[in-house]
Amino acid sequence: MNHDRIARILKCPLCSSDMRYSPRALAYVCNGKVLHAFPVKGEIVDFVCAEDGGRQAKVNRAFSRIAGRRYEEIATGATRSARLVNKVLWGTTRFIPLLFEMLESVTEDCEPGFFLDIPVGTGVFTAGEYSRQPNFDFIAADYNRGMLECALEKIRAQDFGNVMLVRADARKLPFIDGSFSGILTMNGICAFPEKGRVLDEFSRLLKPGGKLAGSFYARGERFATDLIAGKLAASFGWFTRPLFTEKEFIEELEKRGFNRIITRKINSILFFSSRKVARV
Ligand SMILES: C[S@@+](CC[C@H](N)C(=O)[O-])C[C@H]1O[C@@H](n2cnc3c(N)ncnc32)[C@H](O)[C@@H]1O
Repeated sequence: MNHDRIARILKCPLCSSDMRYSPRALAYVCNGKVLHAFPVKGEIVDFVCAEDGGRQAKVNRAFSRIAGRRYEEIATGATRSARLVNKVLWGTTRFIPLLFEMLESVTEDCEPGFFLDIPVGTGVFTAGEYSRQPNFDFIAADYNRGMLECALEKIRAQDFGNVMLVRADARKLPFIDGSFSGILTMNGICAFPEKGRVLDEFSRLLKPGGKLAGSFYARGERFATDLIAGKLAASFGWFTRPLFTEKEFIEELEKRGFNRIITRKINSILFFSSRKVARV
């Protein structure tokens, strides 16, 4: 992606001043009184200022352990054993094909412009779609470096022109208010610590009328899932409590000025779409 173009929507996560790209430093640097620099390491811009030693560290370790093929096999049900894991965990694999189609269906009625895919993970569901959507500039963000490196392999195999890979914390995103026409958050809400802060950020970053859509594990729909995902997997860090029920999630969206909320559930996997109201 064009560095000057993306610099226009960036704000320094440390001092909130605007930013520019420095080709000599191979970094985005801020225009504040004290210069803060965010290096581009192997085509991934790193905006995480200080590693979070708290709950985020546990989540990060959990995804580092499975980043790559192990994650993708389970997430896509690619092998017989992965399908069995999905059956036990979710009671079905019917939701998996929908994940592959999601980015395309979300952008369908979205204004052209910047679009945030967070968390992109390994890009297994979305990376193949970016180059087919020339009306959008995609920012694909995640906290975990290993997951992002897998996404980079897929993006390199396509056209890098309209995608920027960013390492960032969903609780404090380095973009100016109202930068995005749409945000996709696929299978992230159940992983993020401090979900309220993340939803505040999504609301801040969307343009009035912008679209927020995604999927996540919703508590309270299937006993076995609540036991395995909500208790066992959460103790390892792949899910982070408190986990929303559908009703709690809708309330959180409404509190932040989202309307036109549509949900659809396949067992415990909740798909949703919403709009930021034009004026809050
Ligand atoms: C279940 S994966 C989903 C990835 C991808 N959307 C998919 O469906 O395959 C959850 C992702 O959330 C990321 N994550 C967790 N906490 C985060 C945070 N605070 N900010 C950004 N990403 C985070 C993890 O690194 C992990 O890649």
